[in-house]
Order: sequence, then structure tokens, then C-alpha cells
Amino acid sequence: MTLKNRSIPSLANHAYNLSDYNEVRKNFDWNQLGRDFIREDGKVNAAHETIDRHVEDGYGDKIALHYVNGEERQSYTFKEVKEKTDHYATVLKNSGVKKGDRVFVFLPKTPECYISILAIIKIGAIAGPLFEAFMQDAIKERINDCEGTLLITDKDMVNRVPQDEIPSLKTILFVEDIEVLTIEGVEEDVVEWLDPEDGLIIHYTSGSTGKPKGVLHAHRAVGHHYISGKWVLDIKDDDVYWCTSHPGWVTGSVYGLFAPWLNRATIIIQNGRFQAEEWYQLIEEFKVTIWYSAPTAFRMLLAQDELLEKYDLSSIRHVLSVGEPLNPEVIYWAWEKLGVRIHDTWWMTETGGHLVVNLPSEEIRPGSMGRPFPGIQVGILDEDGNELPRCSVGQLAVRTPWPGLMKEIWGNKKKFNDYFKYEGWYLSGDLAIQDEDDYVFFQSRDDDMINSSGERIGPFEVESKLIEHPAVSEAGVIGKPDPTRGEIVKAFITLRPGYVESEELLEDIRLFVRNQLAAHAAPREIEVMDELPKTTISGKILRRELKAREVALSHAEANHTGVKEPSVSATR
Ligand code: PRX
Repeated sequence: MTLKNRSIPSLANHAYNLSDYNEVRKNFDWNQLGRDFIREDGKVNAAHETIDRHVEDGYGDKIALHYVNGEERQSYTFKEVKEKTDHYATVLKNSGVKKGDRVFVFLPKTPECYISILAIIKIGAIAGPLFEAFMQDAIKERINDCEGTLLITDKDMVNRVPQDEIPSLKTILFVEDIEVLTIEGVEEDVVEWLDPEDGLIIHYTSGSTGKPKGVLHAHRAVGHHYISGKWVLDIKDDDVYWCTSHPGWVTGSVYGLFAPWLNRATIIIQNGRFQAEEWYQLIEEFKVTIWYSAPTAFRMLLAQDELLEKYDLSSIRHVLSVGEPLNPEVIYWAWEKLGVRIHDTWWMTETGGHLVVNLPSEEIRPGSMGRPFPGIQVGILDEDGNELPRCSVGQLAVRTPWPGLMKEIWGNKKKFNDYFKYEGWYLSGDLAIQDEDDYVFFQSRDDDMINSSGERIGPFEVESKLIEHPAVSEAGVIGKPDPTRGEIVKAFITLRPGYVESEELLEDIRLFVRNQLAAHAAPREIEVMDELPKTTISGKILRRELKAREVALSHAEANHTGVKEPSVSATR
């Protein structure tokens, strides 16, 4: 049996860098990537590989980035990015940053954000990029967790940084100041040569329990970034590449910065959130050829279909998606209206790079996330860690190791070990099916983690914030199915004595989370209950029961109004 939908065939001549998946997969070896990243002395530096190497190879004058911010436009060559990175790196060194220090970046999607990350890595420190919409609690928790010593931000965003509550943070540098600083005797080469196992970047991500975890990647990940950029993003020298994610998320750093620049692409950096017309204008103006985004964004574009007529989008040759289930409808829409296939990809913060992919040379089965990347073996496991036969639903696991795999969860060995409880496997926490031809179909999460617009939200973090509000006694938070965003955050609360439910009160509670944690984590819906469902023995709130109730309600509503069910469940 195969789980076949209407399939979308491969396009002849579409793939530039990998034309025969089966052949490459048979012979693939992670140690032979066609490019050496490790020097003869066994040392490496990912920032050097990402930018400086191209200048050394004679591509200094090639455009590395185009920056778009409303009406503003800027462009930098690889040489200019290198020089700016060296400047920032020297400022960091002069500020006392040493190898292994955790240095955070809290900036919007600007060239300085990308350059700061590279400068930190160049001098051997660990970069901690923070999503631009974070508020004080989210910022504080992350920097405190790994004892960050320095933060690069700007004079506007610093207002959201509660410096007094972050004892390890000794220095805050403003990009406005770094830019104008003249440095006596800039070092010719500021690169710190490192071991492949040395720390590269730390991304905080949510699970279903506890606070966000610091996922630390090592410099060895650079090979995974490079080869997946080459084969999955299919970058060649004249491409204009645009990834819409902020570097505070792993997609924005790995496939917004490392992978495209390791492959010497010209990238677009767009400052701002989703705006359909702006996005289409940008594609037209810069003749974007490769575009990596997320299902929620594609669904929002689909909803404004009429805009397509107004823009010339013919430059696009390759489109990719990540972060949440990609509905077949969206794939068919892009195929029919834009003449392009959307290539779904599956991976996680912890995996550090693509693991299951739709390669441009291969057939797409809408509803499937694709097949394992060469060098990756996927297993669908039962509760005891045994592999299940094809076409069964089970826990999506991946054979260890591979270069992008995280090095550790900062300061939490137990959480790290939880991913590896079955010997030889990394356990993703997703449930999936694999068909006879190796295509993998996402089913759901196996835990309570929420995925809203591709952003990972931990219910515990939101619940903890909610109960800090004076009116809230208890809280249970779930992801409620939503046709555009995949899921939205919904909170069920009970009120403290003396408080009465009103629209103003609920709005006040919502804003409380929004202003202290982050906009994307604030509940879009809050429901007041007399009592929350709990386990009889431990009294733990039963999120699954809340979720089951909500899902049943939205199905009943959909049937009643004739609205189609979310295709995610209908098509798999
Ligand atoms: O549940 C899966 C979902 O996003 C989770 C990983 O989230 P995060 O670490 O934030 O990384 C997002 C981008 C790398 C996964 O456990 N997910 C990711 N990609 C897909 C997906 N769900 C369905 N289809 C995908 N293509």
C-alpha cells in the first residue's frame, strides 16, 4: 500500500544539484560532502566558512545580501559583510568576550542582526539569537538560563530587556554605537579556530513541560547546513534566495543565514512581518528565484488570490515550506496559479538541519513531508522502541548520529537524554506514517506542544504566566485547530474568588501575557470554566481532555456550518 494523493511529478531540469535521489542516497557518506570544512589541523570556524571563504575564493564583489525595510534598500557584497563582521568581532573581543561565552542578539531582521551572529561565532563565542517579538520575561528567562554575558541590541528594543533581573549580563552593546566606533589597530584575522564539537549557536525552544530549553549546536553542523542547502534549497550561483523566518528561530538561522551563504547565494533580508502585497512586490523587484516560507504564510496568500494578477512572479523557480503541516490544497494552488511546486521539509530545532525532504528532482505526494535526506534513516516506532511495519502510525524517530544533531540541552542532561531513550534513535515527539516508498506523513504531535503559524509554543510557559495574573486561579493551555494558523493558543482558566468574567477582564489577561511573554504566545481565546479537568491522583490539569473537547466542538461546528474540516486530518 502507498499513501498516494494526486501526486505532483518532478519537473524535468528543475533540479540543479541533485538529480537522482536513490543513487545519491545509496552511496552517501557524511564525511564526503564535496567540500572540506575542517582544516588540516582539525579546526573549523563556521562563520569563516559562511562568509570569509568566498572572499578568499575571489567572490568578494558578489552581492551577499539585499536589505528591504519598507522603502529603504541596501545591498552588501561578501567583502563588505566580511569587513563588517570583522569590525563587530573586534568590538566584541575588546569588550572582553571569550571563546565559549554566550552572547545574545536581540534585533529585528536587519543586516546587523545577521552580522552580529556571525561576529560572535567568528571569535568562538556561542550566539544566542532572540526572536524580535519577545517581551521581558521571554528574554530574561533565556539569557539567565545559559548565563549570557553580553547582549547586542538597539536603543529601541533595549526597553524590553530587564537588565536588573539578568545578573550574568555584564554588557549591552547598541548597534548604533558599534557602527560608528573607530577601532585602533583592527586585527587582520579575528577568527578563532575551533574544534568541530565546540558550541556554535543556542536556540531556545519549547516543549510540553517546563521552561524553554536551550538547544546547543556545534560547529560540526556546518556540513549538514551546506549539503542540505545545496540539495534541498538547490542553490546555484545566480540565485536570489529569500527565507522569511527571523534568525531567532532555527529556520531563520540555519536556512536564512548559514545554508544559503555557505552556498554563496545572494540573500534577501526583509525587515517586517507578513504583508501579502509587500511580499509579492519584493519577489518581483528582486527577481527572487528560491523562496522558503511556512504553510500559514502560504495559506494567507491563497486567501488573497486576486493579488497574484498584479505581480510578475515568474522569477520563482523553487519554493519550500517548513514548520507545520502543509495542506495539499496549498500545494495544488501554487501548482495551478504559480506553476511551481511547494516542497515541504521536516526537521526540528534539535535536529539542526533538514531530515525529511521533498527534493526538486523527485515526485511530490501532497500530504507527505517527503523522504529521508541522504545519510538519514527514519523509523516509525512503537511504545517499546521497536520499528513498526510500513503504513502504521507511530513515533517518528531518526537513527543517530548526523552532523546537525544538537550537542546538548543547556544545563539539562535529563531533558537531553529523553530524546534518546531508545538506543540508537533520536525521538522527535511527532507521530507519523511512512509508506512503502519511504514517503513520511505527519500525523500529530505526541505531546501537548502547540504549533501556531509554525511557531513552537510551550503550554507550560503560557500557563505559568497566566496564573501570575491576579484574577487567574488555574490555567490549562492547548492548541486549538485553526484553518489558517494550524493551531491557535487557547486558554481555559478558573477565576479567583471576587473576580467576575467580563470581556475587559479577559482582554486584560490576554494583554498581560502578550506584553510580558510574547505576542505569538498570548492566548487568542480564553474560556472561563468553573473547574478544570484534572487527574484524580496528582491533580494535574488534563490538557488532553481540554483539547479533545475543543477538537470535537470544532468538528461539530464544521459539520453544522458545512465548512470543510482542516485538510490536514481529512487527507491523511
Ligand atoms: O511537530 C513538528 C513541526 O514542528 C516541530 C519542530 O518545531 P521547531 O523546532 O520550532 O522547528 C520548526 C522548523 C524546523 C516538529 O516536531 N514540524 C516541522 N516541520 C513540519 C512540522 N510538522 C508538519 N510538517 C512539517 N513539514
